[in-house]
Amino acid sequence: MKGWKLSDDVFLIMVSVAAGIYLFVSRDMLDFYALLIIFFIYLLLCLIVFLLKKRIKRIEKKYRERTMKNFSENIKYIGVDDRDLDLFEGQYVVPEGMAYNSYVIVDEKIAVTDTVDVHKVNEWLANLDAALAGRKPDYLVIHHLEPDHAGGIADFVAKYPEATLVSSAKAFALLPQFMALPETVKKQTVKEGDTLSLGAHTLQFIGAPMVHWPEVLFSYEQSEKVLFAADAFGKFGVYDADPDDWACEARRYYFNIVGKYGNQVQAVLKKAAALDIKTICPLHGPVLTENLGYYIDKYNTWSSYAPEDKGVLVAFASIYGGTKKAAEKLAEKLTAAGVEKVVVSDLARSDMAEVIEDAFRYDRMVVAAPTYDAGLFPVMEDFLNHLKAKNYSNRKVGVVENGTWAPMAAKKMTEILATLKNVTIAETVVTVKSTLSVESEAALDKLVAEMA
Ligand code: FEO
Repeated sequence: MKGWKLSDDVFLIMVSVAAGIYLFVSRDMLDFYALLIIFFIYLLLCLIVFLLKKRIKRIEKKYRERTMKNFSENIKYIGVDDRDLDLFEGQYVVPEGMAYNSYVIVDEKIAVTDTVDVHKVNEWLANLDAALAGRKPDYLVIHHLEPDHAGGIADFVAKYPEATLVSSAKAFALLPQFMALPETVKKQTVKEGDTLSLGAHTLQFIGAPMVHWPEVLFSYEQSEKVLFAADAFGKFGVYDADPDDWACEARRYYFNIVGKYGNQVQAVLKKAAALDIKTICPLHGPVLTENLGYYIDKYNTWSSYAPEDKGVLVAFASIYGGTKKAAEKLAEKLTAAGVEKVVVSDLARSDMAEVIEDAFRYDRMVVAAPTYDAGLFPVMEDFLNHLKAKNYSNRKVGVVENGTWAPMAAKKMTEILATLKNVTIAETVVTVKSTLSVESEAALDKLVAEMA
């Protein structure tokens, strides 16, 4: 496409117009029409070239994003994508699959960082083989022992018995619970501040307990300024899923998997703030090489339990539709009252992890559920207990209950909500008796006035 410059095009158009004027004035109409046709063909070609250029730019952008994993000549990506997984960690739907990331630092000594899930070990070993180019690894650094990253340790040890495993004391204490390694395997225990020299590259270890297990380590490669961040900054999806929207699946991943440990994430972010970081290599999702402030800001917001956006999540459960109608009416009224964003989720039909993500994303929430067996409809109880487990806090919550003869849902929901830190419960509690009435709709209006 090189050579197609605007100045060339303008010149050609000017010459065509001049020729056209000359032929028109000289009354040579046959040549004039021929020139007109040529002129339109030329314009059409210009349009095709323009569209092709746009398409090529899009392909180039995608290619750049896909090859971001090869950000360094000496730090190679050897992770694998898992598109066959039905549920991550046995409970989270992953329609876009999952990436298990692993890296090799090639220097005088070679360090491999982490392995992959047991189902993908062969593919990972083949990637490792290619990256080693005939050499042998000296170290396997284990940042995180959870099986989605530790599934290849035994095979690695069997294939490279001379290599040394490098990890935290806690990881080495937990390791025998997952696998039996030969007595002869070499181990090097590291802690906060320790370093591992590979030649020009040096790994500096950072303790990151409970992000997301107690044994977790981060490491910082000093020469290329790379942070190996274990589960932090990871997301659901294969490596290049959602290249334009990292936050969507990173947020769902964070709140459901790491969310409980906000204080520990805050502690490690403070340590990371003292480092000059150029690249973040997480154990899931893409390698992050640009605009790192964006990702760090998101993690700072999420881990401090501060709302990310203004808006109201209306989370409801309904047996015969009465509560659903009340929830939808409430959403309508909230929108009419000018609430920035209103999201309505049916707990029985939505991905629970997605609703939890939205609960943390917005600054307000209304929960609406029917009474069931003189208690609370189970899916709502499950939802609220999930929020409690993940330390839901610092939000305002409204309550809508339904009950045909002895409403109890509001009492039960309020009991759970009252245990949460800095959660303000709206004064107006709406009681719907089976279906919306003039009275219950008036109560909805009062609740809207408090929540808008
Ligand atoms: Fe990706 Fe905590 O494991």
